[in-house]
Amino acid sequence: MAMLSCLAIGLLGFAIRMTSASGTCERRMDSAESRIPKGMPIADFDFWVVNRTLGELYYAMSVPPLYIPDINYHQIIKKFNDSYYEEVAIGDTPSSPKQCNSYVFPWIPASSTQASFHRNGKPDNIFVVFSSCPKKYIWVYRCTQFTRSSRCPLSHTFLGLFINEGISDFGSPSYLDDLPLQDMLMDLCPTRVKFGVSEFKWFYSYGANTLCDPGFVQT
Ligand SMILES: *[C@@H]1O[C@H](CO)[C@@H](O)[C@H](O)[C@H]1NC(C)=O
Ligand SMILES: *[C@@H]1O[C@H](CO)[C@@H](O)[C@H](O)[C@H]1NC(C)=O
Repeated sequence: MAMLSCLAIGLLGFAIRMTSASGTCERRMDSAESRIPKGMPIADFDFWVVNRTLGELYYAMSVPPLYIPDINYHQIIKKFNDSYYEEVAIGDTPSSPKQCNSYVFPWIPASSTQASFHRNGKPDNIFVVFSSCPKKYIWVYRCTQFTRSSRCPLSHTFLGLFINEGISDFGSPSYLDDLPLQDMLMDLCPTRVKFGVSEFKWFYSYGANTLCDPGFVQT
């Protein structure tokens, strides 16, 4: 039974019912590789993702993890023109004493139709953004050894799950209420990585950032 999972108002004001198949992923994960998913349409990305504050909920990389990621990571993607986007982000270092990290990463479009980008313009570093409910969350799939094939070694595969935030009550747990969890899980199927699998370390990274400039959220 198909489930009505997200009611989104599209660019032209049409109501688009986005559905996803319920159940489980059909294909099993490979032991060595993930699959590069299709990005969301770039127009949807511009409409739903650009200029919104996104809080990272989970960040995953294959085990053993290469590094310990920041926590309380928040980002805004800005669009300058069709060939240049920029991620502005803040996070707290996981170590003690904690301190603010802030970042600016160029995202250079790798496609004119889909949300896929080369971070820092590096051709072997690809970011793909996808979601069946971008009003609420996005997945960011990253491959750091992109070779134009549709596969990526697990050891070079990174996943970030971000939720859309407002500006009040920033980082509060209430933002985690009523998330379309089933959609979040099913959206991952094309990558062949199953949420929570033990081949990956799933870092829970959500929370208000207290160390960086709170002006970030006003942008
Ligand atoms: C993002 O915000 C800037 C500054 O407020 C604005 O000029 C721009 O049109 C916005 N872009 C999109 C895609 O909404
Ligand atoms: C797009 O914006 C970037 C950053 O401002 C700029 O360097 C680049 O020349 C612009 N490209 C075009 C085609 O306008």
